[in-house]
Amino acid sequence: MDIGIEKIGFYTPKNYIDIVELAKARNQEPDKFTIGIGQDKQAVPAVYEDAVTMAAEASHQILTDDDKKNLGLLIVGSESSVDESKAAALFLIDLLDLPENIRAFEIKEACYGATAGLQMATDYIAAHPDKKALVIASDIARYGINTPGEVTQGAGSVAMVVSANPQVLKLEGKSSFMSRNVGDFWRPTFSKTAFARGKYSNQIYIEFFETLWKQYQAEFSVSADDFKAMLFHIPYTKMGKKAMRTLQGKISDAKYAQLEKEYQASILFGRQVGNLYTGSLYLGLLSYLINSDVKSADQLLLFSYGSGAVGELYSGIVGDDFKANIPVAEIKALLSDRNKISIADYEDVFQQSISDGESVDPTTVSGHFYLSEIKENERIYSKK
Ligand code: CAA
Repeated sequence: MDIGIEKIGFYTPKNYIDIVELAKARNQEPDKFTIGIGQDKQAVPAVYEDAVTMAAEASHQILTDDDKKNLGLLIVGSESSVDESKAAALFLIDLLDLPENIRAFEIKEACYGATAGLQMATDYIAAHPDKKALVIASDIARYGINTPGEVTQGAGSVAMVVSANPQVLKLEGKSSFMSRNVGDFWRPTFSKTAFARGKYSNQIYIEFFETLWKQYQAEFSVSADDFKAMLFHIPYTKMGKKAMRTLQGKISDAKYAQLEKEYQASILFGRQVGNLYTGSLYLGLLSYLINSDVKSADQLLLFSYGSGAVGELYSGIVGDDFKANIPVAEIKALLSDRNKISIADYEDVFQQSISDGESVDPTTVSGHFYLSEIKENERIYSKK
């Protein structure tokens, strides 16, 4: 039986900042941010947006009534959770009008969360081939104003329907993974911003990729030539390139040049929105499927990395009708139809939050879903 991703949806907030303007405001060389880090724009979430509202937006883009009827599993991967107890997935039952006979929960392991969800959903479909699963990655990446990580912030969500009809990407069940207790990046429960040992996190990311690539080749008797592209978790677009460079001299120059070309197609969207944390690999997949010359039956290798740290390298085969199962026009429109805000306005929004007893004026809301109120410390969400 084939299992994998049947559809993918995407959402990113309406507002963004220009990375050159950010560089100037921080007295940095613009080239450091655009070339050294590899970003152009950074999504800025509104005060009424969070992991829940963005998850609802990305799912709403793709779910049909038929999908909803057949869903048996709903997993939200997030490291910017809104509640220590209640799962983001529960709010979605109401917002998306989902049936109650569903297992709904949230999963956390930094940027690896959605991959954990995807693998779990694959096992679920193997046991329940007539059902579907919805796996959502949703995050706001926040490091803080004027920190080294600030240029690698971003926000957005990717939603994937997983089923026995993998029109977008068939997962082959070939996977190598590893977990190690590492202090490269963390966000304590008291803090809204993450802490990172930046250079150390780069080093661990690259080490995990090298280790898993060796393991994957040995386990499945493959070489780089078997893959049309290698897709990476993209906290900033230079990161995957740094990991891929470890292949230089170990594979043919021609293959390396081709993989580099494919990588460029996978980072086009990431350059425009920044880090989605657990959604970044899947935004890279979307970007690649939309912007490259990839064809049905091409084989892709995907590297998922979550600080802390878990890494997984797995492969997939591009589905028969992948473009028809991706809302290409909506995604392109979402990215092109955004508002640039000033660095001063971004700094202002960054400090804002909704307090207990406050509500949001729906006429200020740009999307379909929003945090409308906090009442008795409970977050209340609404749809427009
Ligand atoms: N023109 C072109 N390039 C320039 C330049 C210029 N004028 N000035 C500097 N650069 C280059 C540097 O040479 C460097 O390139 P290399 O990495 O290829 O050497 C690059 O710009 C960045 O420069 P620095 O290393 O000096 O930058 P920094 O110290 O300010 O921090 C960072 C960079 C460590 C990535 C920081 O942004 C950070 O901490 N980010 C958050 C952590 C992170 O994203 N880690 C990634 C791995 S962990 C992960 O993937 C999980 C996750 O999502 C968080």
